[in-house]
Order: sequence, then structure tokens, then C-alpha cells
Amino acid sequence: MYNIFDSHAHYNDEQFDIDRDSLLASLPEAGIVGIINCGTDIQSSLESIKYAEKYQYFYAACGFHPESANDVKEGDFDKIEKMLSHEKCVALGEIGLDYHYDFVPKDIQLTVFERQLEIAVKNDIPVIVHDREAHADTLDLLKKYRPKGVLHCFSGSVETAREILNLGMYIGLGGAVTFKNAVKPVEVAAFLPEDRLLVETDCPYMAPVPKRGKRNDSSYIVYIAEKLAEIRSCTAEHILDVTAENARRLFNIC
Ligand code: NI
Repeated sequence: MYNIFDSHAHYNDEQFDIDRDSLLASLPEAGIVGIINCGTDIQSSLESIKYAEKYQYFYAACGFHPESANDVKEGDFDKIEKMLSHEKCVALGEIGLDYHYDFVPKDIQLTVFERQLEIAVKNDIPVIVHDREAHADTLDLLKKYRPKGVLHCFSGSVETAREILNLGMYIGLGGAVTFKNAVKPVEVAAFLPEDRLLVETDCPYMAPVPKRGKRNDSSYIVYIAEKLAEIRSCTAEHILDVTAENARRLFNIC
């Protein structure tokens, strides 16, 4: 297979320390034509840019993940905004809300998310949004700021997906659609218009069946494409072609 565009990865993760360079050098041979590596704090955002400078097919997203929101200092927003002007930085992310764990108070998460939405709109750059068990607050802020972007690892209902589409945004699907107990992701996968769908790994996490529990990497997108093809009655190649085209359109990559 070829034309694999992984719209959400974390190759800075320590699980890749052992073989990062050889793995990233080998991915084009496995059909990977694009990867967006998402920062979660200053350090990982800088690392995303570093790999993007080294690998032609690699792109950076820079931003503060809700789990890092406690550590964000005032001057840090300026640092992220400066990174956005790098030629290989194509998005602000990943940003959002996560109410699953309570490490970070909601008001701090909301403030950090909102500040970054302001920066994204001001700089006319797409956002990569993380929403875990925070659908209502996430939607409220997206409706307020109306950024371009993608809801990554989408876990909501068809009804919520429809609201995201109405905002002009894309929806990212990954390993969760392949899980045996998947209901909502499968319904959403069947419902989405073809021109708003992205595929992603969120690697090293969320490996799809039959690799579930293993370290994930962008070559496993093939299993996600096969599952989506089954759900949508088309070929996996078709899924890869349209999702690569969608990613290039959203992130303004020629
Ligand atoms: Ni992520």
C-alpha cells in the first residue's frame, strides 16, 4: 500500500528512543507519504520541528496538550506562536480538553485551550483538537472561535460529528475503529462524508487490531484503512488516497 498520511503521531515519545532514526528513515518504504507529529508541550513541539527538518515527509504541530496545561507559563504562548512560523509547522496542536483524568483543573485546561484557539485564528493555522469526555465544552469553544482543524481520535456520537462538520472541521479516526467493542467510532466512520475524514495512529499509543497492545507506528494505518474500507464498502487504497488528499488540503501541504 502507499499514500499513507498519518495525521497524528508522537514520535518524540520515549518508546521510540531505541530505534527512532532507523524507523523514520524506513517509513517511506512502507508507503508513508506524510506524518504530522503533535507536540504536547514546549520540548515535544521543538522535537517535532527537529524531525520535520530532518525528514522531508515529516511535519510538525506545536502546542500544549491539556495534560500539560498546569505547566504553561505566560511567556510560553509566545514561544508556541513563534514556532508556528516555521515552514514545516502546519498546525497548532495538540490542544483541547481532557476530563477523564483530574490532574489538571478544568479552569486551567479551558484557559490554555482558549488562549491557543485565539492564537490559531489570529495566525490562520489549523488546530488539532483532543477531546476526551469534554464534548460540550469543546464544542462551545470551537463554535466561539471557529478555527480550521481536526477533531482527532474522535470518540463522540454521529450527532456530535455532525456539529463538528457544520463548523467546517475534519474528523480523525484511528485504532479505535478496529477494536472489537467499537460502536460509536464505527457509526461515525460509516456516516462521515469522504472529504472530511483523516486517518491517524496517535502512535506509540492506540495500535489497531491485530497489533493492539503493541507499540504503534504509521505503517499500521493500513489496518485502520482496511477496517474503514469494510465499513464504507470501498477499497483500503481508496481510503488512503482520499485521506492523504484531505490532510494535504487541511494542512496546506503541496
Ligand atoms: Ni495525541
